[in-house]
Amino acid sequence: MWRVARDSQVLDVNPSYAYLLWCRDFAETSAVARLGDDVVGFVSGYLRPSTPETVVVWQIAVDEQARGRGVAGALLDNLVERLDGRANRLETTITADNVASQRMFAALARRLGCTLDRSPLFVDDLFPDQHDAEDLYRIGPWQTPPMNGAK
Ligand SMILES: CC(C)(COP(=O)(O)OP(=O)(O)OC[C@H]1O[C@@H](n2cnc3c(N)ncnc32)[C@H](O)[C@@H]1OP(=O)(O)O)[C@@H](O)C(=O)NCCC(=O)NCCS
Repeated sequence: MWRVARDSQVLDVNPSYAYLLWCRDFAETSAVARLGDDVVGFVSGYLRPSTPETVVVWQIAVDEQARGRGVAGALLDNLVERLDGRANRLETTITADNVASQRMFAALARRLGCTLDRSPLFVDDLFPDQHDAEDLYRIGPWQTPPMNGAK
């Protein structure tokens, strides 16, 4: 996951320790995608403590050579399906220039048959370093995931 995040050249690269700790404590809301023996993508998330029916996607990335084949969509569908009955909303933050990510979450909202709202969350002044503003995207609530077998 650390390697995929680093190679994406888009995501913030957290220390490798953070990914290890994440997988220890948030495995049920995280997943990797494999091509053969190689990890080519991952999603990391958590159930929001104050609203635990909301899964927050912290990071998602797919290696460049595996993009455009539905890997990220499958990671998100799998996450939603695994949380069936527990989470019925999803949140994430996206920068204004990340069109691929915006389309990816818009496509997820369509598959789930629910709305997607965008609002400002972390404006750039809040960051102590150089960082673009992050908008909050909220999907849901959805009913039982309709995508089982539908893709
Ligand atoms: C965003 C990312 C994870 C998408 O991975 P992917 O496996 O190629 O995505 P998928 O093939 O599952 O596509 C999912 C949807 O997003 C759309 N999409 C994906 N990449 C796109 C792009 N570059 N431009 C426009 N739409 C795109 C697809 O068309 C698809 O929508 P559809 O079902 O309506 O056709 C990948 O481009 C990536 O790793 N980017 C760098 C890291 C990043 O930006 N992460 C998100 C941070 S918020």
